Amino acid sequence: MLSVWVGAQTSQGIANAMSSLLKITDLHVSVADTPILKGVNMEIRQGEIHALMGPNGSGKSTLAYALAGHPNYAITAGSIEIDGVNITERAANERARLGMFLAFQYPVVIPGVKVADFIRHAVSNVRNPDRKEGEGLIGMREFRKEIKARMEELGMDVEFARRYLNDGFSGGEKKRMEILQMAMLQPKFAILDETDSGLDSDAVRVVSEGLAKLSGPEMGVLIITHHERLLEFNPPQYTHVMLGGRIVETGDAALAHDLHANGYATVRERHPEAAADNAKAEETAAV
Ligand SMILES: Nc1ncnc2c1ncn2[C@@H]1O[C@H](COP(=O)(O)OP(=O)(O)OP(=O)(O)O)[C@@H](O)[C@H]1O
Ligand SMILES: [Mg+2]
Repeated sequence: MLSVWVGAQTSQGIANAMSSLLKITDLHVSVADTPILKGVNMEIRQGEIHALMGPNGSGKSTLAYALAGHPNYAITAGSIEIDGVNITERAANERARLGMFLAFQYPVVIPGVKVADFIRHAVSNVRNPDRKEGEGLIGMREFRKEIKARMEELGMDVEFARRYLNDGFSGGEKKRMEILQMAMLQPKFAILDETDSGLDSDAVRVVSEGLAKLSGPEMGVLIITHHERLLEFNPPQYTHVMLGGRIVETGDAALAHDLHANGYATVRERHPEAAADNAKAEETAAV
């Protein structure tokens, strides 16, 4: 019987039934009318870890923002889908409710908004999507217990929950705060934009172990990084290389290792057109 049933399905169909899929198709993104992404394709399933590498200015953060729904990043062509639902036009908060999470490369400071209040609202919005403002917040006692446990796991002083979001936080503290948010929101798809940059080696270990503990069959992860440490703890099944606004190569963990060891010179040689576009972006950024 089983073989008959399997025979009637494609292997893709079976996988789809089991886990969520984030599908990025021919994505073109402009910032302030300048085209940055020029046709990005990628498929991330729940449970998979993908690494995204590429030189400065290649468009990695642009992809992250476009996926999260940042209003300044205009999608001019292509689509983003979660389980076949087209979210290309959806606002950032709706995407978050559907399970998308972005840990920022440069976390924003919000003076006046306490960490605990911010996370309690975000968690309530995601877990209880139909709630109206002022209603349906998750219970204080339950929330406190949960955030305290997650903070302890991440080696964070619980006092941070009382401070204003990222206000006066060190670079490393901001990055841990991003991981704390991820731990509390438990997204289906997490994009980590250089979460390991600016961390001392102890903090990189804490964050890497934290991510390894949090990710699992329920989470698809896209790790944007220039370093190897996060990937050592969280080995990617796929490594994508971005250059000049497109994914020019995809491989496995060995590709990430090779790029760390040898840089992007050979990638640029293999993809001269994308390399020329990247060089233009770097020049513009340098002005
Ligand atoms: N808000 C913006 N305004 C103007 N240009 C932008 C903006 N955001 C991105 N760009 C441009 O888009 C290009 C890609 O930038 P992006 O930040 O995506 O690169 P990246 O791959 O994340 O680089 P890095 O490794 O340095 O973080 C760059 O040329 C950059 O200057
Ligand atoms: Mg970036």
